[in-house]
Amino acid sequence: MPEVGESLKMADTEGSTPQETAVLTYAGQSYELPVVTGSEDEKAIDISKLRAQTGLTTIDPGFANSGACRSAITYIDGEKGILRYRGYPIEELARQSTFLEVAWLLLYGELPTRGELDTLTSEVTRHTMLHEDYRRLFGFMPKSAHPMPVCAAAVAALATFYREADTDERTNRMIIRLLAKMPTIAAYSFKHSIGQPAIYPRNDLNYCENFLHMMFATPCESYEVDPVIAKALDLLLILHADHEQNCSTSTVRLVGSSLSSLFASIASGISALWGPLHGGANQKVIEMLQRIAEQDGNADRFLERAKDKQNHVRLMGFGHRVYKSYDPRAMILRETCKEIISRVGVSSKNLEIAMRLEEIALSDEYFIERKLYPNVDFYSGVIYQAIGIPVNMFTVMFTMGRLPGWIAQWLEMRKDPDFRIGRPRQVYTGARQRAYVPLADRG
Ligand code: CMC
Repeated sequence: MPEVGESLKMADTEGSTPQETAVLTYAGQSYELPVVTGSEDEKAIDISKLRAQTGLTTIDPGFANSGACRSAITYIDGEKGILRYRGYPIEELARQSTFLEVAWLLLYGELPTRGELDTLTSEVTRHTMLHEDYRRLFGFMPKSAHPMPVCAAAVAALATFYREADTDERTNRMIIRLLAKMPTIAAYSFKHSIGQPAIYPRNDLNYCENFLHMMFATPCESYEVDPVIAKALDLLLILHADHEQNCSTSTVRLVGSSLSSLFASIASGISALWGPLHGGANQKVIEMLQRIAEQDGNADRFLERAKDKQNHVRLMGFGHRVYKSYDPRAMILRETCKEIISRVGVSSKNLEIAMRLEEIALSDEYFIERKLYPNVDFYSGVIYQAIGIPVNMFTVMFTMGRLPGWIAQWLEMRKDPDFRIGRPRQVYTGARQRAYVPLADRG
């Protein structure tokens, strides 16, 4: 394994030498603020000295304009629909790579050599089992629980079994454990919810095959893994592996910035991912498609409701904070979706409705004006469903995919020369100072 630090080389810092400045004029004074330039020439005003120089802070709800860090992991150009991990276009990785190879790339910055990949694969394969005492934890959770909070609790509980990593070598071991145990945790959370015994991992299967085996085998019947399904799953994991400073990744960084453990930070990321505006959208998309199918199959009528602000209905799987054109991951999944459905020989009413919704939305003024396109969650659920993954496990699949990205971002944050605890400011809008009123005098 490479030194953890090796992965953490920051983007070419030459580019960040302030060449240009932006001028802020306030209360009759002008202040020069440095402009930093990233390796793809994107520019940002450095406001790190703003408060000290001017007494001002900034306000930016949803952080739509604020960069929280420099990062050398993932590049997105939302206008052009570009996504690259460590410089490699997502389309090339989707076509040629594997999930564990992508995990290495994200973590250590380069594609692995054959020897490095073999080592990673073997290490991950040998750490998939869960400690028997830890395994019993699942039995204490209600069967009706959604698998996402079960996974979040289980990952947080890893910190009770493995001590805090204080060296690079121990950190590497924690990373291997997380990558290896996440599919087992995910499958156990599902097995528990349906009242079946946990199925132990098998070392003769690859990452995705093993997950499918743990999901669908039973003690009385083995499960024949279909390589087409395992491959489709691997692709889905690659497409979800990182997405720069989104809600869950920022959560992982923020929690980690207090020097919380990797397990605690990842558990927080899982909780953030669960929300319907983020990773939870993939489950909501299928529920939406099913509702439309059950009602009258009328996609046009549903879209009218999604445009009407009185309804608080959104077209789930559409729109993105960063992509203002087609999400490249959705583009890949749209094609994969059709292939998988014809390969596994299921007919999908959901796919028909999804394609109809997309067709109408992309030519509708409301969606055009707001630059709302399908995002990664629009087609992923249709594929998960076609390959037999239960609906409440969709966001857990996203979690498995996003794991290496979260870890890479956590590592990068810890080694960042600008590292500080994350602590945003606010503009206070509450009552000004007032005198305490004793209870007896409050009417
Ligand atoms: N359906 C209908 N209207 C929408 C939608 C949608 N899916 N998404 C955005 N809008 C409208 C929104 O009402 C607003 O309209 P107006 O300007 O008239 O007030 C405008 O488009 C801008 O929306 P916003 O909510 O200010 O945009 P945002 O950048 O804050 O939110 C989003 C991005 C992804 C949360 C939002 O597009 C959304 O809720 N989409 C549906 C949920 C979804 O699919 N989430 C998965 C995101 S991709 C996976 C991931 O990485 O998390």
